[in-house]
Amino acid sequence: MKTIITGDRPTGRLHLGHYFGSLENRVKMQYDYDTYILIADVQALTDNFDNPKKVNESVHELALDYLAAGIDPKHTHIYIQSYIPEVAELTVYFSNLVTVSRLYRNPTTKHEVGQKQELFGESGEGITYGFLGYPVSQAADITALDGDVVPVGEDQIPHIEQTREIVRKFNAIYGETFKEPEAYLSENPRIKGLDGNDKMSKSLENAIYLADDEETITKKVMSAVTDTNKIKKDDPANPEVCMVYYYHKLIRNDNLDTICKECKAGARGCVACKKELAKAMMEFLKPIQEKRKYYEEHPEEVEQILKEGTMAARKRAQEVMRRVRQNMKLDYFE
Ligand code: TRP
Repeated sequence: MKTIITGDRPTGRLHLGHYFGSLENRVKMQYDYDTYILIADVQALTDNFDNPKKVNESVHELALDYLAAGIDPKHTHIYIQSYIPEVAELTVYFSNLVTVSRLYRNPTTKHEVGQKQELFGESGEGITYGFLGYPVSQAADITALDGDVVPVGEDQIPHIEQTREIVRKFNAIYGETFKEPEAYLSENPRIKGLDGNDKMSKSLENAIYLADDEETITKKVMSAVTDTNKIKKDDPANPEVCMVYYYHKLIRNDNLDTICKECKAGARGCVACKKELAKAMMEFLKPIQEKRKYYEEHPEEVEQILKEGTMAARKRAQEVMRRVRQNMKLDYFE
């Protein structure tokens, strides 16, 4: 069985962008792969080092979101990154194999630094060693558990590419030790926002969270961008440029033809169409939110799941690190 390693930074709740961008895939794939999902608290600290409370709380929120979305602890080990010291050790060894200029060229970190001017300065001159290097630690996350497949959103591709480069270099120097992992992208690796923005994201404030209640969802959906050429309720419009239709397509597979035809014929008002979407979205989120509620009410169960997942991941990392230390000739007392 091949192994999946993937995860998220605990910095807030998960939204539909996460869900359709990769979580849905992880849920589907967990039955056919040995699956490990990490809560990347160490990575979250690289840009939240001054806010440990936020990271701590988000670890719990993320665990709840995973379980709610259908990550099944019988099939998936959910684990906490900071409890695997072997990953920190491997990060140090990997850091010799990566140049600083290569890290500066990573488009995802570059983009993130641009978004965090308060933290890293207007042109990123205040970037920390830890943040610049987090893709190296991510490479260690994946390889310390012998990961084959990494289901992620589009923004993570540069990190997987970086991981593959490190693996090739490591194997060339120390002998065949790791396999090159592969990214696995969903059909919709990047989910647009209801505001028409190219990406749904927390920082753009256009996210619909898995845990949003009906009132919040309705409010967000009512403000969605539709075909701007449509002025009056019964003007014909183009659903292909409308964010409401885009979301109808994402969350349902019934009635789409009708919606499309009515919209094109001017027989569907945007307000009614939005109300219908909000309702469909709640319908879609209902089982997720019910499951979340169950786990919110059973925190001891969640803790047990995290403990067991973390122990399993650590055991595996220890085995891999024995091999690493041997190949690197660091096995003095073996
Ligand atoms: N970089 C990922 C994110 O921002 C989190 C992450 C950390 C990760 N380590 C990983 C993803 C290993 C996949 C594999 O959410």
